Amino acid sequence: MIPSALPPVLAIDGPSGSGKGTVSRCIADVLHWHLLDSGALYRVLAHVAHDAGIATGESGELGRLARAMPVAFIRTADGEERVLLAGRDVTYAIRTEECGRRASEIAVLPEVREGLKALQRDFRHPPGLVADGRDMGTAIFPDAGLKIFLTASAEERAQRRYKQLKEKGLNANLHGLFQDITARDERDQKRAVSPLQPAPDALVLDTTGMDIQQVVARILELARTRFTQAAPGY
Ligand code: DC
Repeated sequence: MIPSALPPVLAIDGPSGSGKGTVSRCIADVLHWHLLDSGALYRVLAHVAHDAGIATGESGELGRLARAMPVAFIRTADGEERVLLAGRDVTYAIRTEECGRRASEIAVLPEVREGLKALQRDFRHPPGLVADGRDMGTAIFPDAGLKIFLTASAEERAQRRYKQLKEKGLNANLHGLFQDITARDERDQKRAVSPLQPAPDALVLDTTGMDIQQVVARILELARTRFTQAAPGY
């Protein structure tokens, strides 16, 4: 039995480019809840491992590294979000397509998934947590009060990612992004441990053709019904 005193969790899972990141951030801001960007943890681990010359096959070493990662998420005075690794700013380094691909590769390893579990659960603090990832509703917070699974067509997700990268002034190739997204979907969905799939009690929301505001509004509506008792203040 999970004690009811635990802070509420809103789990938002889905594939790359489904809009989870932006949507989760908006919802956490509106509710004044904490935010867990679990993908960033996989990315930081992939980044550290690459820097340290640890190969994807060295699962035991990667698992140990995952348990001891000195990672911190901070917001600067002007509202910018930063990811720090032992005090070093890795915000941009972990956002490259290459780092995303490496993250997806190490994410298939049970040792890595187990190693990152405690770190992810540590984000659960009052008044509540919006948890963004692939297995938030299935493996990390199976008791989440609301579970959303966001999807969108691979074409639309590649388009969104292309736009995002261009806006950041980064190099992007639409066809390459599409191929990367479908390859990553396949790896994420087919891995033996915590494959990317909706929890049986998740609400699947196809966001193809919807804009971020519409998706946020829909989830907030659901959250307001679901969490009235847990968080009466918003
Ligand atoms: O959401 P993202 O693109 O930043 O995540 C990077 C990779 O990390 C993604 O391809 C799969 C993996 N991941 C995961 O396996 N489980 C999570 N909860 C979050 C991310």
